[in-house]
Amino acid sequence: MIVAPSLLAADFNHLAEEVKKVEELGVQWLHLDIMDGHFVPNISFGPDVIKALRPNSKLVFDVHLMIEKVETYFQKYIDAGADYLTFHFEATKDIASLIKKIKATGTKVGISLKPATPASVLKPYLKDLDLILVMTVEPGFGGQSFMSDMVPKIKELKDLKEQNNYNYLISVDGGINGDTSKIVSETGADVVVAGTYLFKSPDIKERIEALLEL
Ligand code: DX5
Ligand code: ZN
Repeated sequence: MIVAPSLLAADFNHLAEEVKKVEELGVQWLHLDIMDGHFVPNISFGPDVIKALRPNSKLVFDVHLMIEKVETYFQKYIDAGADYLTFHFEATKDIASLIKKIKATGTKVGISLKPATPASVLKPYLKDLDLILVMTVEPGFGGQSFMSDMVPKIKELKDLKEQNNYNYLISVDGGINGDTSKIVSETGADVVVAGTYLFKSPDIKERIEALLEL
């Protein structure tokens, strides 16, 4: 399993140390949640924070844009060092051209689905995607409970991938813990994003090791 700790739950007073800690514990990815106070009712951090962290880390930077006006801002996140750049299906009208623009920079492209958005909307784009981020909470805040009714969506995307030989990774974001990570792993997730479960844990090492073994 690819494990992507979500920096949103880290200690913002020691960001560089938090990144170093998870990197030393063997994770491959770092999940960076960008919130603009419009697409979601919360604000996190922007491209300059990513840019500041980039030189100190070899982790794959998995940037999750929860913002409006994606066309206006996406390049800043690429310049800051995103390896995967994921935007929300619900945040833009011109999905196809945005996929093309992001891919043209050599950055991997992902689309995220809010819980109410069905997997079927992605059918025209599946062949071009590097990642699909299935939200298992309403985007905007860490520490919420996993929505188990999203499991069939993960299964559907897994089946479509197998039937058509698509290349996208299936990533699952929201309410991931020891139990829910097993469920999504068995259903077909390639990546688990975990914030609270890791950064607020008394034993982050043990938890990361358990997720990596899934
Ligand atoms: C929520 C974010 C998540 C969040 C997950 O909008 O996209 O990445 O950090 O937090 P936990 O793991 O606490 O549910
Ligand atoms: Zn996220």
